[in-house]
Amino acid sequence: MSKVHVIDHPLVQHKLTMIRDKTTGSKDFRELVNEVALLMAYEVTRDLPLEEVEVETPICATKGYTIAGKKIGVIPILRAGLGMVEGILQLIPTAKVGHIGLYRDPDTLQPVEYYCKLPSDSHERDYIVIDPMLATGGSAAAAISYVKNIGCASIKLMCLLAAPEGIEYMQKIHPDVDIYTAAVDEKLNDMGYIIPGLGDAGDRLFGTK
Ligand code: PRP
Ligand code: URA
Repeated sequence: MSKVHVIDHPLVQHKLTMIRDKTTGSKDFRELVNEVALLMAYEVTRDLPLEEVEVETPICATKGYTIAGKKIGVIPILRAGLGMVEGILQLIPTAKVGHIGLYRDPDTLQPVEYYCKLPSDSHERDYIVIDPMLATGGSAAAAISYVKNIGCASIKLMCLLAAPEGIEYMQKIHPDVDIYTAAVDEKLNDMGYIIPGLGDAGDRLFGTK
């Protein structure tokens, strides 16, 4: 069974509350989402393997550490996942970015795929799939299935808010994928929105409502 990591760092929780606030406008919402993504990326990358290297300081030679192992890729689920990309790239500037376009059909709540472009060396990368909202889990599960189908085995999911329903679905479909979230909310409403949530993440990021 995959692990659910709730990032309860005070800075993350403080900023998440501002993100939830309905009076926060798009400019601040965008900045806050990126700031939380940066802080969460610090935790998501905590288990990256290190290798020992020699380094010459201005004083003498010593040993240091660099990140070893596979290269990292970040995959935002369009649209709302785009809001977290810059924050993560500030911490991991060499990460390549793939895109998976999915929207949730408002009637069936099923994910509909409309775009996909991933780095050509995808099978060699450790991936972090990002989307602020894990609601029914349909979109994240579909995106991760796509990534697995092209040969990637090392995948983590990072979101801002998760509903228990989405966590349960993800753990059923992808029990090998750990979930990182800033909060686990109460439930979904009849329209598939997270309660209490933050509303429609894509619309709030891009000012489309
Ligand atoms: C939102 C959100 C997730 C999805 C979550 O995207 O960003 O991708 O819903 O819901 P699920 O867990 O029930 O699949 P939306 O479909 O609104 O598209 P958008 O990002 O383009 O606004
Ligand atoms: N997508 C959103 O943007 N918000 C929700 O609460 C659920 C799905």
